[in-house]
Amino acid sequence: MHPLALCRHLAHARVHAPTSVRTMSNAPAAPRPVRSHRATGFQGVVRVPGDKSISHRALMFGALASGRTRITGLLEGEDVVNTAKVVELLGCPARKAGDVWEVLGRGVGGLAQPASDLEFGNSGTGCRLMMGVVAGHDVQVKMTGDASLSKRPMRRVLDPLKTMGVKIVDDRATLPLVLRGSSRLIPIVYETPVPSAQVKSAVLLAGLAAAGATTVIEKEATRDHTERMLRYFGAEIATERRNGKTAITVKGHAELVGRDVTVPGDPSSAAFVAAAAAIVPGADVTIQGVLVNETRTGFYTTLQEMGCDVTYLNAREENGEPIADIRVRQAKLTGVRVPPARAPSMIDEYPVLACVAAFASGETRMEGLGELKVKESDRLAATVDGLAANGVPARVDGETMIVVGSASVRGGGTVATHMDHRIAMAFLILGLGADAPVTIDDITYVATSFPTFQSLMAGMGARFEAV
Ligand code: S3P
Repeated sequence: MHPLALCRHLAHARVHAPTSVRTMSNAPAAPRPVRSHRATGFQGVVRVPGDKSISHRALMFGALASGRTRITGLLEGEDVVNTAKVVELLGCPARKAGDVWEVLGRGVGGLAQPASDLEFGNSGTGCRLMMGVVAGHDVQVKMTGDASLSKRPMRRVLDPLKTMGVKIVDDRATLPLVLRGSSRLIPIVYETPVPSAQVKSAVLLAGLAAAGATTVIEKEATRDHTERMLRYFGAEIATERRNGKTAITVKGHAELVGRDVTVPGDPSSAAFVAAAAAIVPGADVTIQGVLVNETRTGFYTTLQEMGCDVTYLNAREENGEPIADIRVRQAKLTGVRVPPARAPSMIDEYPVLACVAAFASGETRMEGLGELKVKESDRLAATVDGLAANGVPARVDGETMIVVGSASVRGGGTVATHMDHRIAMAFLILGLGADAPVTIDDITYVATSFPTFQSLMAGMGARFEAV
């Protein structure tokens, strides 16, 4: 059946969103504080939910492909569910059939004018990548997000897209904004001023629809899921080293074909389990089926350098991505220097690494962290404040975060999470090793990336209590 006929055939299909998904039209829910208690045992063999970066991309690339894309292991966190809803608004049914999500794509250039606003909730990845997806279409879309996303910088993506021919009504730099795409995009060569996979991906996705080859040049390599997955969907995409930088070129007027995708476990979610295992005495956990692409594993390398026992088992490959089971056993930790070159490969893991560093003897210096200031919250400030509230000496010096660790952490403080899922989870981990319980002011946003966090951790021996 022709893909568009298939779309019509399944036009009734709806995204089955968890009832907890918040949108801008809903009043924000009341905060839900949670307290984390010192753990004595922490053991288990577990799986974490699907990788967030790959889940967003699978839905979007499925929309840009002709025919059916089947996704196994999709992360059903709020961020990704919002992306699925947006994909539907752009005319591509996205639904769950049994355990598998299906997207019926319309091909590059084939997306429809949406009938309502595109709401991204808390998700920078969903929003910024989707700017690149819609760029090459004659559509006008209003993009909105929650209070956290509405503060985050969008010029980093909008500037190159404008050069290609996209128009931004009123030239706004933050959400809400109205973007007008064009079916006549101009290909560009663009060197990213910030190390950001989101910026790289948005330009490459727009490049799929441009009249010629679009090149993105990166000084520091960022996660390469877009390149790997676009190739898997049939795009012509080449990566080469040029003068110590990486140049990625995609051929325009691309024809992608729907594929089967299996989403591996998210190493950024697994990092919370690994961090708990690193600090709870006697802990021994194995996290199965985790993505171990080297653009994502800086946190695990750092844990090893601190003295933690981390081993990769059953290494294998799925859909062009390396996967392994990761075993982590507690050991005596020592503070280390984490070089700036490692930052892109563990950019989301610094809050939880800082919490691990609180238990390592001596100083841990984490360098080159400017990008942490523009995540779901200012993570440099939020992390240092949370540590200080729990008696851990920590400071920021320019783009360096310094934590002074010791064998015992006082705890007993309350941490402001600022609508940031990773700040919330990092400090619940701190509480597992601290002398007195650690309280976070709101667990709500954990559902954006790791909806099963509380039950999974409880199953291994963590005690989290609603207060
Ligand atoms: C992501 C890239 C990173 C990361 C985010 C997911 C992606 O953001 O922090 O959680 O999927 O491309 P930046 O590209 O802004 O560094």
